[in-house]
Amino acid sequence: MSKVRIAILVSGQGRGSNMQAIIDACRDGRISGEVVAVIGVKPDAPAIERATASGVRTFIVNPKDFADPSDYDRELLSVLSSVQADLVCLAGYMRKLGKPIIEAYRNRIMNIHPALIPMFFGQGMYGHHVHEAAIERGVKVSGCTVHFVDEDYDTGPIILQSVVPVEDDDTPDTLAARVLVEEHKTYVRAIQLFAEGRLLVEGRRVRILPG
Ligand code: GRF
Repeated sequence: MSKVRIAILVSGQGRGSNMQAIIDACRDGRISGEVVAVIGVKPDAPAIERATASGVRTFIVNPKDFADPSDYDRELLSVLSSVQADLVCLAGYMRKLGKPIIEAYRNRIMNIHPALIPMFFGQGMYGHHVHEAAIERGVKVSGCTVHFVDEDYDTGPIILQSVVPVEDDDTPDTLAARVLVEEHKTYVRAIQLFAEGRLLVEGRRVRILPG
């Protein structure tokens, strides 16, 4: 089986812990794949520095450098095709991707969200906002979701979800930390299922084919 070529998109602020989990899993064989590019918006972003320290090829494509958003999309697409990416993984990437990218990589772009979609999701629901909302609403469980990316925020077909308990004394920080542990494992599992060709998308549902 040939290795899946993975490009990871990160933001300017993210720690890059999901990115690192993917890189590590490719290297120790839990993912039959290779991270061929980490694409970020600025060279001194923590995730970009981490990728460089891990010896992964990095690219900087900053949407602010493009007056016309379609030029940004074109540049991103050209980087993705130059590294022959099979799969694009968003790891703390905050923007909505342009239509040309979604169409070129339909069902080949994944995102991780730190809640059980359709709870606490959509525009503005990122980072701490998610865990604050979960605690404020008093849910007893939360978790994370890996999904394919479509034209809107967090609405694409769901691949895997993992559940964690919400404890009475949780703060957004303690809940975020518990969810993050599951994020790393769940993202790695979802990518490996993709690498094994076991994800079948039927409308909004993703069937996991037997191994
Ligand atoms: C994660 O919580 C992920 O669910 C969300 O952004 C955060 C990125 O964290 N999409 P990290 O940069 O991977 O540590």
